[in-house]
Amino acid sequence: MAMPGGGADGTAARRDPAGTPADRRRAGAAGRSTVGAGALLEIRDLTLSFQTRYGLVQALNGVSLSVGHRERVGVVGESGSGKSVTAQAVLGLVPAAEVTGEIYFDGEDLLRVSPGRLRQVRGKEIGYIFQDPLSALDPVRTVGDQISETLRIRGVRKAEALRRSADMLRRVGIRDARHRMDDYPHQFSGGMRQRVMIAMALVAEPRLVVADEPTTALDVRIQAQVLDLLLELAEERSLSILFITHDLGVVSGFAERVVVMYAGRVMEQGATDELFYRSVHPYTLGLLESLPRLDGEIPGRLTTIGGKPPSPADTPRGCAFHPRCRYALPVCSEQVPPLVVPPGGGHPSACHRAAWLAERPGVLR
Ligand SMILES: Nc1ncnc2c1ncn2[C@@H]1O[C@H](COP(=O)(O)OP(=O)(O)OP(=O)(O)O)[C@@H](O)[C@H]1O
Ligand code: SF4
Ligand SMILES: [Mg+2]
Repeated sequence: MAMPGGGADGTAARRDPAGTPADRRRAGAAGRSTVGAGALLEIRDLTLSFQTRYGLVQALNGVSLSVGHRERVGVVGESGSGKSVTAQAVLGLVPAAEVTGEIYFDGEDLLRVSPGRLRQVRGKEIGYIFQDPLSALDPVRTVGDQISETLRIRGVRKAEALRRSADMLRRVGIRDARHRMDDYPHQFSGGMRQRVMIAMALVAEPRLVVADEPTTALDVRIQAQVLDLLLELAEERSLSILFITHDLGVVSGFAERVVVMYAGRVMEQGATDELFYRSVHPYTLGLLESLPRLDGEIPGRLTTIGGKPPSPADTPRGCAFHPRCRYALPVCSEQVPPLVVPPGGGHPSACHRAAWLAERPGVLR
């Protein structure tokens, strides 16, 4: 399979090896946090830079996040915040010049394992669903061939691999699956192609699925169907999911915990309800303000955060959000705020004014 932005085995990304749906979806979310507590995936202080014609640019600046066993974690942020690069780094698929930090999967640092071991983990233990199935699927090979390949390269015999692939295709809702195995990607609609991608990611029965904007290209109705399917499969197969999206609305119905990223850093993270109702970061609050209200109240107008996210080649000093932040203090343009739980308790926020915001719930809304 073609790996966007990386070599066939993705080793360029790594240091030298020596690492009623909405309610149902949110059930069990309250207060659950697994950071550092036996998580299935734990990313610690990940930094990553690219060599560009402007020199070395830092795309990730110390990202730490975790996904627990059977936990669904959403990563949100505007374009360029580093969501995909983080996800691709987990699978060693990003052609970075330099990577530091740790990426533990079930206790094994994926930044330090051999390329062979990384290939075993990828596909078998971690499945990846790409945003754009058309560029991820090979147009000149049948979908049956592509789904079963994941099993065949792991030594499963051809007949067995094809049988399991057809079963998986049926499970993701493709009718007449056995015959459709012989079709090519262009013979499927956008929503059906995304189901094929899900079948490919899940056929080898991984424990973690990384889904990078899996529904962004779909219309709202199909998007909801695909999200429900993913949720069903997650529950049925005890999956952990790292779900990437720029849409806080999508994440509210899907994830139990949310990580908000901006300019290659984690700005805030916590249980989904905590973030939605008790956010203590102006960036998250800005994203929330730009969502339509779900409580039935119709706002006078939807606001958006003014300005644009910075390029990694030109990230502002101090808090990278300060040029767009209406609550910025002089210290904000000087010192990077650490990601910590504010003194009064709650969840981690990288903001010099987190404690001040915590005392004023709803200050921006
Ligand atoms: N191969 C690369 N070479 C140089 N810079 C890159 C490369 N891949 C990503 N970047 C830069 O790294 C930053 C983070 O990119 P990333 O794709 O992770 O953003 P994202 O949050 O996924 O955004 P989007 O919502 O648009 O998908 C961006 O500024 C991007 O331009
Ligand atoms: S640290 Fe300052 S600039 Fe950054 S989000 Fe908080 S108040 Fe705004
Ligand atoms: Mg992306």
